[in-house]
Amino acid sequence: MGLDKKEYFYITTPIYYINDEPHIGHFYCTTAADILARYHRLIGDEVFFVTGTDENSLKTLQAAEKFGMAPKEFTDKMASKWKKTWEELNISFDYFVRTTSEEHKKSVEKLLMRCYNANDIYKKEYEGFYCVGCEKFLLDDEIVDGKCPIHKTKPEWIKEENYFFRLSKYSEKILELLQKEDFALPEARRNEMIEFVKKGLKDISISRAKINWGIPVPFDNSQVVYVWFDALINYITALEFYKDKSEKFDKFWENAIHLVGKDIFRFHTIMWPAMLFSANIKPPKQVFGHGFFTINGEKISKSLGNVINPVELAKKYGIDPLRYYIMREIPFGKDSDFSISRLEERYKNDLANDLGNLINRSINMLIKYNNSKIPKPDENLLKTSEHIFVKNIGENLIFEIDKSYKNFEFSQILEKIMEFTKSINKYIDKTKPWQLKKENKIETLNTVLYNIFSAIKMISLFIYPFMPQTAQKIYNQIGEKNEVSKQNYQQAIKFGSLSFDRIVGEPEILFPPLN
Ligand code: MSP
Repeated sequence: MGLDKKEYFYITTPIYYINDEPHIGHFYCTTAADILARYHRLIGDEVFFVTGTDENSLKTLQAAEKFGMAPKEFTDKMASKWKKTWEELNISFDYFVRTTSEEHKKSVEKLLMRCYNANDIYKKEYEGFYCVGCEKFLLDDEIVDGKCPIHKTKPEWIKEENYFFRLSKYSEKILELLQKEDFALPEARRNEMIEFVKKGLKDISISRAKINWGIPVPFDNSQVVYVWFDALINYITALEFYKDKSEKFDKFWENAIHLVGKDIFRFHTIMWPAMLFSANIKPPKQVFGHGFFTINGEKISKSLGNVINPVELAKKYGIDPLRYYIMREIPFGKDSDFSISRLEERYKNDLANDLGNLINRSINMLIKYNNSKIPKPDENLLKTSEHIFVKNIGENLIFEIDKSYKNFEFSQILEKIMEFTKSINKYIDKTKPWQLKKENKIETLNTVLYNIFSAIKMISLFIYPFMPQTAQKIYNQIGEKNEVSKQNYQQAIKFGSLSFDRIVGEPEILFPPLN
């Protein structure tokens, strides 16, 4: 990844089932991907960010039926709803992939034919318990009291002739891949996968008979492709894999990073790379399996009636504070309860008090003590220990934050930014610009004010990927003419890049009091 050189960066979210509307759990993963995409664009990388919808599922058929709609009509309506929701929530995706598209169908056919020609597909009679909620055959230890423990429903007994994929053939290659330190993260989940593979991989059924929805198997139209085999291929459909030659695929595929929830980590770290090996394609660069938001310890789901709608929350608290809360509250790999009171605490303490107040009081001081103009600091004073810490901490943070991005440490990045913010508030309390003004210590006052605004400029660049609208508002208030997202980050973030004599605007309330 490129602080020092431009690189290609391909980031994906899972494609979402469309029987339902987006909830806070979906927003969580999509936001994390958006943050990575924005950060990489900011540092100058060429980014391709993809999200989309998983439409060839049995759940789609059932939901369409429930609403009395034809499946095609239903999928068009729901896919456009998901797309619109992400747009409304300021998600900066570059491409929206749909599995009912012609392009995707061609991709699936192409990949499946490659597996077939590699002699990795064969026909076999199969029977087992199938959970429509999970869209998979459950293994014995995945059934508790006769039910799927996730969906709390009885799986269906299915007996039919299916096509099978020789997953077992790839056991060793998959194990080797998982043993590479940074392919599957976080480590605890990677170790679970290693244990799973060591027990031996079984071939898997990859088609369904008697179902009239989905992509027909290209060499046997009486069956449709199993929805997971189909869905995983979306990641290369988006790169135009279906074409004979795709520049996008060549540029981005080897840099692919998939963000997925822990429940679908196995599909992405075992089944997906095996499909790719079979088709003679490299596996993705990385898969990260994040944790879950729960409500009172329970999974969020429509059937449990505890869905939290991100659009409603964003209306009340703002998109950026909501992004801040979900990314700050839990380390990315871990689970946590979603709590409105914690969201409000974070809003008041971190955002309104620490960040909002820093900007507000600083601009007010500048208006009062230097006619709204950024002053020229005293070069010698700037180098003294009392003042130089701003430059030192700020410039160090650039590298620390970059490293944390590579490790998906979103919460830690925000913690570091907020520590920096607090340290600037403390610096103001300690240096007391109001007293410096009274005592006419103009050199020191100018140095302090310059330092404060340099820090604010850095903070706005640091928080941009997490809170893009807020970052832009701060930028405008401190008189920066550029768009945060469209400039040379490496230059703009350097201490000293803040020019003198520019006029700052009136302070604007960034985080209004909650009522
Ligand atoms: N369609 C499949 C993914 C196919 S990707 C090739 C699917 N869809 S889903 O809509 O059920 O889930 C999409 C993602 O949302 C998953 O990564 C899942 O882990 C995530 N989440 C669903 N509920 C969640 C929470 N409560 N918290 C965090 N993420 C959650 O699976």
